[in-house]
Amino acid sequence: MNVLVIGSGGREHALVWKLAQSPHVDRLWVAPGNAGTEREARAENVPLKAEDIPGLLAFAKENRVGLTVVGPEAPLAAGIVDAFQESKLAIFGPSRAAARLESSKVFCKNLLRQADVPTADYHVFHSADDAERFIRDRYPSSEEDVAVVVKADGLAAGKGVTVCRNRRDALEAIDRIARRKEFGEAGSQLIIEERFDGEEASVLAITDGRTIVTLPPCQDHKPAYDGDVGPNTGGMGAYSPAPLVDPEMLGWIEEHIFVPTVHAMKRGRHPVRGVLYAGLMITHQGPKVLEYNVRFGDPECQPLLMRLQSDLFELLDATVHERLEEISPPRWDPRPAVCVVMASEGYPGSYTKGHPIRGLDEAAALPDVKVFHAGTAREGDEIVTAGGRVLGVTALGDTIPAAKRRAYEAVRCIRWEGAWCRKDISDKALKYGE
Ligand code: AMP
Ligand code: GLY
Repeated sequence: MNVLVIGSGGREHALVWKLAQSPHVDRLWVAPGNAGTEREARAENVPLKAEDIPGLLAFAKENRVGLTVVGPEAPLAAGIVDAFQESKLAIFGPSRAAARLESSKVFCKNLLRQADVPTADYHVFHSADDAERFIRDRYPSSEEDVAVVVKADGLAAGKGVTVCRNRRDALEAIDRIARRKEFGEAGSQLIIEERFDGEEASVLAITDGRTIVTLPPCQDHKPAYDGDVGPNTGGMGAYSPAPLVDPEMLGWIEEHIFVPTVHAMKRGRHPVRGVLYAGLMITHQGPKVLEYNVRFGDPECQPLLMRLQSDLFELLDATVHERLEEISPPRWDPRPAVCVVMASEGYPGSYTKGHPIRGLDEAAALPDVKVFHAGTAREGDEIVTAGGRVLGVTALGDTIPAAKRRAYEAVRCIRWEGAWCRKDISDKALKYGE
């Protein structure tokens, strides 16, 4: 079968790498892809943007694409799945209505409350005045700890969330969202919710709307610098399995979080099909949902797929055709995987592009290592930087520290002007005696 993968990041390179291993896949296109995707067997980049739904639809029709796999959230929120389905084309991902789990935090929170899924208490506001009044009434003294999080309703590239420590933080966040409209339409509603303390975990499941396949737990590293300080990024590294979520807790998450969510979406006549990614806070009172995404995480996808031993095409195809119940559960390499993101100087702020990358082949020659490309491009014979997050250097090892050592060994082979990475990816696992 011919397969089309949409997107251009490390997540999409991992999807392409794994799909290229399937005997079911004939031709493999990536729109628009990066310098790593086009190097995979049978894979070819197509110069179409992930948001160009008419262009992608026309391409899929012309090239007899039998399965399209969507990486990023923007085309899902814009209705790419609905458009493909109207043309009777098989596509992995949720409909626009189901994608609201990610694209509208108000929709998500209302559904979680209705389905009795553990999440932070919250209030929805339509105006800055009402939200400010709520904060001033509830926290009359500016001295006290203001344990709230202020969130813009819509997609804001991870920037619409402010975890507040004091009243000024909260009032400023309300002002940015609802008065200065920094996130445009995404800020036409806002949420103020209870702030939790604890450690975060990412747990992803694949669902066809009825059957749920829960994947091994992961941990992302969103702050830019070691020790979880600095500005938020798309994710500076990830590893799996994360011992913070032991098998018993993973079973609890499936039963008390995924099952009621999937059922509530089905009852609401918007079955969720594709990935259900729960961003969780593991509190003293147990796991709580901070947010849902409806796509693979980036970089969580890289260590997960590095460990997947079964055929990814079969899993995605069964999901699209609502046959997930019929296939055997995925098999996983018991060894952990660690992915270290190498970034451009200046990221997540502004950065320059076009720096030649050296040492990729040396890194790739190490055993149990795969270098996933994210922001890379080919210029003649050279591979150059083309984004903020440039590579996701991923390795397997017998233990998490062994996988970490191997990943950083590969990182040390790779050079370009201004390259940097966090040095502590996966160290959160150390306290569990790994
Ligand atoms: P979200 O996009 O809703 O996941 O929020 C982004 C980040 O904000 C999360 O990864 C958390 O680090 C933080 N966050 C969100 N909601 C809460 C909360 N209720 N309590 C504490 N931190 C939160
Ligand atoms: N790694 C976080 C995300 O994909 O949203």
